[in-house]
Amino acid sequence: MASTGAKNTDVETCSSWRRDQQRSVADHEVEIMSCRFAPEDVPPISSPDHHVVVDLHDSSTQSDEYISIDNYSGGVSLTWEELWVIASNGKSGSPTILGGVSGYAQPGEVLAIMGPSGCGKSTLLDALAGRLQSNTTQSGNILINGRRETLAFGTSAYVTQDDYLMTTLTVKEAVHYSAQLQLPDSMSKSKKMEIAETAIREMGLQDAMDTRIGGRTSKGISGGQKRRVTICIEILTRPKLLFLDEPTSGLDSAASYHVMSRIVGLAQQDGLTVVLSIHQPCAEVFELFHNLCLLSSGRTVYFGPAHHASEFFAQNGFPCPAMRNPSDHYLRTINKDFDDNIGKGCGRKSATEEATNVLITSYKSSKIYNQVRSRIAWQEFSEAPLETKGSQASFLTQCLVLTRRSFVNMYRDLGYYWFRFGIYTALCLCLGTIFLNVGHDFGSITPRGNVLMFVVSFMTFMAIGGFPSFVEDMKIFGRERLNGHYGVSAFTVGNTISSIPYLMLVSLVPGAIAYYLVGLQRGIEHFSYFTLILFICMMLVESQMMLIASIVPDYLLGIIAGAGIQGVMILSGGFFRLQNDMPKLLWKYPIHYISFHKYSYDGFFKNEFIGLEFPVNNNRSSAQRVITGEEILRDTWQMTLGFSKWYDLAILVGMVVFYRVTFLVVIKAIEKAKPFTRSVLARTSKQRKQVMESTTSDML
Ligand SMILES: Nc1ncnc2c1ncn2[C@@H]1O[C@H](COP(=O)(O)OP(=O)(O)OP(=O)(O)O)[C@@H](O)[C@H]1O
Ligand SMILES: [Mg+2]
Repeated sequence: MASTGAKNTDVETCSSWRRDQQRSVADHEVEIMSCRFAPEDVPPISSPDHHVVVDLHDSSTQSDEYISIDNYSGGVSLTWEELWVIASNGKSGSPTILGGVSGYAQPGEVLAIMGPSGCGKSTLLDALAGRLQSNTTQSGNILINGRRETLAFGTSAYVTQDDYLMTTLTVKEAVHYSAQLQLPDSMSKSKKMEIAETAIREMGLQDAMDTRIGGRTSKGISGGQKRRVTICIEILTRPKLLFLDEPTSGLDSAASYHVMSRIVGLAQQDGLTVVLSIHQPCAEVFELFHNLCLLSSGRTVYFGPAHHASEFFAQNGFPCPAMRNPSDHYLRTINKDFDDNIGKGCGRKSATEEATNVLITSYKSSKIYNQVRSRIAWQEFSEAPLETKGSQASFLTQCLVLTRRSFVNMYRDLGYYWFRFGIYTALCLCLGTIFLNVGHDFGSITPRGNVLMFVVSFMTFMAIGGFPSFVEDMKIFGRERLNGHYGVSAFTVGNTISSIPYLMLVSLVPGAIAYYLVGLQRGIEHFSYFTLILFICMMLVESQMMLIASIVPDYLLGIIAGAGIQGVMILSGGFFRLQNDMPKLLWKYPIHYISFHKYSYDGFFKNEFIGLEFPVNNNRSSAQRVITGEEILRDTWQMTLGFSKWYDLAILVGMVVFYRVTFLVVIKAIEKAKPFTRSVLARTSKQRKQVMESTTSDML
C-alpha cells in the first residue's frame, strides 16, 4: 500500500492527467503513461482508499472545474488474470474461447473491449459477470476488490447483447415499473417517477415514451431504442459495477456518442466501474474510453490506456493512416475472418494472422503488459468489501409491483389468455350443442362421463398454449433476477396472483356455457364446484409449465415436453383404463396417483353423479328400477367413495402449491448448483488448459 504522502502526490498527478487529457496524445503520451503507472509498478488511480479528483465535464472539452469525490466510496475494482474459457462442444472438441487474458477495471473508468466478431468479447463479459454458459469451463483468477467473490444477484448490472423487455409495456411504463422495483421504499413515488423520466430523457427516448416496446406480435420501438431502454433500466440505481455488451448496437454515431458520454459521465460522477464491449466506435466515442482491451481469437492483442494504443500499433509497424478512425484501423489490422489465404486453404499464415501474432507477442514483452500485471498484483493486496447493488424495495412492494405489471401484460398480450378464452368459449359452445340437454335417462350416463372427461382433459391440456408468453416472462425474470431487481419468491407471488382473475374468467364463462347447455346436475353448489375444479386444474397445468420452463427454457421444446407429460397423465388418470385394470407396477403405483387427472375425474364425477338416479329400462318388469349415481361411480368407473369430492379438490389445491414451491426450489437449486458444477468442471479442465497453452505458444 502506498503511504499517505504518496497518495497525495498521486491525486495531483492524476488530476493533472485529467486536465492534460485534452492535449494531443502524441505530445503527452509519455506524461500520461507516467501518470497512470507512477510510481513505477504501482498504478495510482482510484485505489479504494485514494481521494480522487474527477473532471465531471465532458472529456472532450477543456475545463478548469473539478469536483472532488471521496474515494469513489464503495467502488468496485475488478481484476482478472490468466483467464481461460473453454467450451465443450461434445464430439466436435473443446475450442478455446479465451486463452489466458488478463486485465483490470477500476472505479470511475470505462474499459472498452474490442475485437472482431467472435473474438470472445461477450464471453469475457460473461466470465467477469459470473454468467458463463453451462457448457463452458473457466479457469484463472477473477478478483473483485482483491477478493475472490462470486458476482451474482445484485452485485452488478449487466446489459446483455439481447434485450429482454416486456413487449406490451410502453417505454415509460417499463422504466417506471423498474424504478418502483429497484428504488427504496423510503423514496416517494413521485421522486421515483422523476428519476425514471430523467433517465428516459438522458437516453434520448422522450419521443418514444408512450410507444409500446413491441416484439413477437407487434412492431414497437426500434432495436436501438430497445437497447437504450435496457440501459435506462439498469442505470436507475447506479450499480457500482456495470457490464454492457454492445450498448451502441443499432445506434447512429450521434446517438452512440450521447449514450456513451452519458455512461462515462455516470462512471466519473458516481465512481462506477464500467466494462463494455463495442464493435466499431467512431473517433469521438473512442476518445471517451479510459482503457482498451483488444482481443483476437480470445487472445489479448492490447490492454492498456486507450490513447496509447495508436502508439503501440505504430511502434510495431502498423501506424494508423491519417484520416482513419483509430478503432477501424485496429480492427482491420487484426480481423482475419476474411483473409484470402484462409479461404483458398493454401495452408500459409495470412498477412493479418501474422500481424496479429506480431502484436500479441510484442504486447507480451511490452512495458504496458508488465504494468498491467503489476496493477493486478497490487490489487490483490487491497481488499475491500463488496456492496450489493440489489433492489432496495421491500418484498411486499416488489410483489405488488410485479403483480400489477404482470396483470397489465396478461391483459395486453392477446396470446396469454384472451385468445385462449375465445377458443374455450367456442369449444364449449361446440361441446354444449353436441351434447345438448343430455337428459337423465339410462343412455345419458356415458355421454355425461364423456363431457366431464373432455372438460378435464382437453380444456386443461390447452392451458399449455400460454407457454410461449410464459417463456418470455421467464427471460425477463432471468435478466432482472440476475441484476438483483427482485427474487424468485416475489416473481412467483406476482405471477400467481395476477393470473387468478384471468383463469377465473376462462373457467367460469366457457364452463357455464358447457354446463348449462349439456344440462349437468342443477344447483349452485354443483356448478361452483365444477368451475372451481376447472380453475384449479388450469392453474395446475400452468404451474407445471412454469416448472418445465425453469428446466427447459426453449418454448418449442417446452410445449413438446408439457404435451408429453399431459398425455401420460390423461392416460393414467383412470378414465381410458379403469384404475383396477391398470398394470399395478408403474402405472397404478405411482403414476395414477401422481396424475392430477385422477383427482379431477373423481371430483367431477362425484359432483355430477352423486344424488342422481337413472331409470333402468326393463320391459318385462312393471316396477321401474333405478340405478343410483353412487352405484355407477363404484361399479362402472371403479371410484372409491370413501372420500368426498372436497377431498379431491383439496388434493388438487395441494398440487398447485407443490408445483409452485417446486418451481421456487428448482430455480434456487440451479443457482446454487451452478458455481459448484463449474468449480468441478474447472478442476477437470485444468489439464486441457495446459495442453491449450502449449499449443498456443507453439502457434506463436
Ligand atoms: N457456450 C458456448 N459454446 C460453444 N462456443 C461458444 C460458446 N460461447 C461462445 N462460443 C464461441 O466463442 C466465440 C466467441 O463468442 P462471443 O459471443 O464471445 O464473441 P463476440 O466477440 O462477443 O462476438 P460478437 O461481436 O459477434 O458478439 C464464438 O466463436 C462462439 O461461437
Ligand atoms: Mg458478443
